Amino acid sequence: MPRASYPGGPVSAIFRGALASNGVTYNPHPNGWSCNFERMQQYDREGRLHFPRVAEGALRLKMYADESSGHRVQNLWEDIPPIGAQAQERLGYPTQKPVALLERILAASSNPGDVVLDPFCGCGTTVHAAQKLGRQWIGIDITHLAIGLIERRLNEAFPGVAYKVHGTPQDLAAAHDLFARDDTTKKEFEKWAVSLIGAQPWRAGKKGADGGIDGRLPFGKTNVALVSVKGGKDRQRNHIDQLRAVIDREKADIGVFLTLHEPTAPMKAEAAGAGQFAIDGFDAVPRIQIVTIEEAMRLRERAVRIPLARTDVFRKPAREEDTTRQQALDL
Ligand SMILES: C[S@@+](CC[C@H](N)C(=O)[O-])C[C@H]1O[C@@H](n2cnc3c(N)ncnc32)[C@H](O)[C@@H]1O
Repeated sequence: MPRASYPGGPVSAIFRGALASNGVTYNPHPNGWSCNFERMQQYDREGRLHFPRVAEGALRLKMYADESSGHRVQNLWEDIPPIGAQAQERLGYPTQKPVALLERILAASSNPGDVVLDPFCGCGTTVHAAQKLGRQWIGIDITHLAIGLIERRLNEAFPGVAYKVHGTPQDLAAAHDLFARDDTTKKEFEKWAVSLIGAQPWRAGKKGADGGIDGRLPFGKTNVALVSVKGGKDRQRNHIDQLRAVIDREKADIGVFLTLHEPTAPMKAEAAGAGQFAIDGFDAVPRIQIVTIEEAMRLRERAVRIPLARTDVFRKPAREEDTTRQQALDL
């Protein structure tokens, strides 16, 4: 806020309004007042002057946001805060950037209709900003987790948004193919499968230590469902048994067995034997749920039955006003 003060002269005489209102006589700055007397009086009449409580304080001119054209952006941008732990737009992706930052970059460097490419797009902040600003876009990421998150983000923020996903399984045959081609740890397949139902990978890379748990899905206030992904053909009743044991050990409420192949009858029987989980006021749901990848691809988050709306693992993005559709890119 710029400083304003009366021109030289006996302050008490010039500035009766202030004297009357708070009984303080303001003295000029040693270098003199910085705007002319008439202008100062005008500001005073318009109620635009702020009077400090003590005479040594500086008189200030009130400025309103819509009167200022702002400052030209400099090299160092400090006005867009990073995404804090409680930020509304936080989705849970570790390297997420604020969408306002990407909006500024895109607004400064592209025109509506241009194509924006982010080859390491993470949870899709660039893609989000591009969609919002009416740019076409291409986002690339190596992890299925990121792609699943971007899909969800776009669908929530821009209902009806049109885009195509290349490279992640779009049908069951492609899911089998991903499993077959994934390296021996099958981590990418598992992360993709877990992202289908909106769950978060469970301590990625430590499968052995966690007894086959691949994903975590919090719901309610403190409840949690644990997800075990199975891609191989080998399906035994004891896989369900093991999941049950892990649910007990981790004090989780629900276990989801996410399988690429149809479960066998003994597996279904074992799951049914685990009983129900209920929260007061809501319908009970099976404690162990077997969900096929086919169902998860078709129903996404609805493939898992939980008694309450889930606490978002990756928080739900806010809906954007602008639902501009991008034209199809010939990929
Ligand atoms: C720093 S994050 C990007 C975050 C993003 N700017 C945002 O705000 O959402 C970098 C991303 O690059 C991806 N990545 C790493 N190596 C890659 C590769 N070879 N090809 C494509 N994506 C890759 C990672 O999976 C990660 O999501």
